[in-house]
Amino acid sequence: MLTDHTAVPVPNGVNRDPLTLLQEARERQMKRPEIIEQLGMSPTLNEYGFVFDKRSPILDSFIQNEGQPGKRLFEIGSGFGRTAIECLRRGVAEYVANDLCEDHLRLLMLRLHEEGGMDDGLDLSALKLLVGRVPEALPLRKDYFDAILIDKVIHFLKPEEIPIFFKWALQGLKEGGRLYLLTISPFISVYREKVLPLYLKRKEEGDPYPGYFPNFHELYEREPIADLPTPKAFLFFDLDELRRICEAAQFKVVRSYSLISPNPSDHVWMEVPPEEAYHVAFILEKPFATPKA
Ligand SMILES: C[S@@+](CC[C@H](N)C(=O)[O-])C[C@H]1O[C@@H](n2cnc3c(N)ncnc32)[C@H](O)[C@@H]1O
Repeated sequence: MLTDHTAVPVPNGVNRDPLTLLQEARERQMKRPEIIEQLGMSPTLNEYGFVFDKRSPILDSFIQNEGQPGKRLFEIGSGFGRTAIECLRRGVAEYVANDLCEDHLRLLMLRLHEEGGMDDGLDLSALKLLVGRVPEALPLRKDYFDAILIDKVIHFLKPEEIPIFFKWALQGLKEGGRLYLLTISPFISVYREKVLPLYLKRKEEGDPYPGYFPNFHELYEREPIADLPTPKAFLFFDLDELRRICEAAQFKVVRSYSLISPNPSDHVWMEVPPEEAYHVAFILEKPFATPKA
């Protein structure tokens, strides 16, 4: 168990001790799902998409700019990705890795052990593991984090949860702190045929969340996996819609990206025009307060 002073204060999440999760992963002889080599990605255990090992340009920026001694970082829906490892190795003061799937965090610990240099003295005291679904599991923090990363997760939220998330992020970040956000676009080739016409029609009609598909699994006749929290809904954003929401939430846009992720024809991340993007992304900044006159 973690002692109270190291725990992340959350009403609805569960703090887990990293070494306990590592031990549990070993006892259960857990193995990471096999990586699709060319694409550099592995399927999640719960059908919530893929964990990407090939880094997008925005993830490179996050690691370079924020993975620095003294920084306090929070990653939502980390899965068993390498970002936590990279930032811990660079000496951050605090790294909270969150996921709704506890087994993903067990796999993250295995990975830290195998690839992170734990046996060569990697300091784990900065790492906190927070199990729980966002937004319910978001910690009670104010002006605290230097940066927040939410990479391929927002599309699993419901529309009414989006303002809750942004309000929390604005409060939880320090002034000048940054939110790094990457999500799925309705122009993505695999879903484009069915999703895009509906998206554009609803957008024209003024729907505030034209990309919300509460019964997405029916659109594609996918069967939910028994006993697993398989996502039934998807929330797509194009670049303009996402920008509108970020700015309405009082964030300053530092940089935007329209990207194609590694795929069978191109095995690398590429920047493309917004109407070709599989993913859209923003680096956002919490504005500094205006000094009182
Ligand atoms: C597509 S994977 C992305 C993993 C990692 N961020 C990456 O980019 O490689 C989505 C991850 O987010 C987690 N997740 C989905 N919805 C979540 C939520 N509302 N709160 C916390 N974690 C969530 C899933 O369990 C999964 O591990």
